[in-house]
Amino acid sequence: MDKFIIDGGKRLCGSVRLQSAKNSVLPLFAASILTDKQVTIRAVPKITDVFCMAQILRELGAEVHFCGEDAVIDSSDACSHEISSALTKELRSSVFMLGSLLTRFGRALIAYPGGCDIGLRPIDLHLSALKRLGVNIRERDGYVLCECGKLKGAEIVLDFPSVGATENILLAAVKAEGRTVLQGAAKEPEIVDLQNFLNAMGAKVRGAGTDVVVIEGVKSLGGVEWEPVKDRIEAGTFLIACAVCGGETEVVGVRAENVRFLLHKLRENGCKIGVKNDRIRIESRGRLHSNRRIETMPFPGFPTDLQAQATVLNATCEGCALIVENLFETRFKYVPELQKMGADVEVRGRNAFVRGVKRLHGATVTAGDLRGGAALVVAALGAEGTSEVLDLSHIDRGYADFREKLKELGADIRRVRT
Ligand code: UD1
Repeated sequence: MDKFIIDGGKRLCGSVRLQSAKNSVLPLFAASILTDKQVTIRAVPKITDVFCMAQILRELGAEVHFCGEDAVIDSSDACSHEISSALTKELRSSVFMLGSLLTRFGRALIAYPGGCDIGLRPIDLHLSALKRLGVNIRERDGYVLCECGKLKGAEIVLDFPSVGATENILLAAVKAEGRTVLQGAAKEPEIVDLQNFLNAMGAKVRGAGTDVVVIEGVKSLGGVEWEPVKDRIEAGTFLIACAVCGGETEVVGVRAENVRFLLHKLRENGCKIGVKNDRIRIESRGRLHSNRRIETMPFPGFPTDLQAQATVLNATCEGCALIVENLFETRFKYVPELQKMGADVEVRGRNAFVRGVKRLHGATVTAGDLRGGAALVVAALGAEGTSEVLDLSHIDRGYADFREKLKELGADIRRVRT
């Protein structure tokens, strides 16, 4: 298992070219088995979640090749509707395969999905929506077996705008008989990307990015070449890292409207933000002010995937902040690690009370989940002295070339095999 050794206290200056969004690439991989024609996804980040998804497709009988930065998927020989528990436990996004497998084979057997240990993450919304489309569902021994004759369009209302459930519904309804109207859909930019990808394959989907998505079932879908949207969470992580360390950094490739809430919060901290086309520039000088309150919400609210990084930022600001986590109940698991660095954070249920200290100090900490792990790296970059961040496997799930990109900005960070 690898670790980072970080000498904190360096300013971060320069430009970061963003990777394609992990949360877009994964459902696009799932969508690629909707057709037996070739699908090319451009600029795919080299992260373990993507490799795991590729392995899932291979187990189904598809061919997946990585050529330079692109992934070429040919699922003409795909024949299996089963996903082994070893893979679904690695990657929660395998749940999107339900919709795709049902469309392609009329059957799907998957083990209950895994992924980050950040809360219960049930899939009841996925399953009740699939039932509305005519799917029979049986659950046994940690497996879900879904079967359908012909999928039929339906009116579906989501009680909560679940990202995964919205994507699954798109994937299951895209070739269903008739029209599906989904109310209460999630509005994340990655859902818009999936809609556009499906439409480029010949689907008829509209409304993504609003809370009503309409899907007219089509008879067949063709191949496509697609470049996904850039990763707004990676963008946010680098912007926050610069805010914490001080410096002038630019992230390239993300639209400001996709990170609007974060930019508002960073301005509140006292950072200068400049936006020009798809470039966002941050300037951070001196000690920042805390955000009195940050509450995670579905898009366009403050993303839960940046909650840990925002807590780290507030840990060294002047003043106190209340961070409210509304999406995943155990998403403060990184806090005890952050406390080892001298942070003054008290967690009570869904709330974290953060009293800013002048400086964090170096410590040995363990990354227990993807975003919490990235946040600990950010904390170490801003801390006085040397830190070790142990167990990089979670960070490798979502950040390609994290060390290289940070080093390019001036960070003192090494990766060592332990
Ligand atoms: C996606 C993202 C993840 C992000 C999350 C919220 C991907 C691959 N992952 O995860 O990075 O943190 O959105 O923005 O895109 N819920 C239920 N029942 C369900 C489904 C969800 O109760 O059937 C609840 C969850 O427990 C959670 C909330 O809804 O509290 C949000 O989950 P959801 O939007 O589905 O997140 P994911 O799609 O898993």
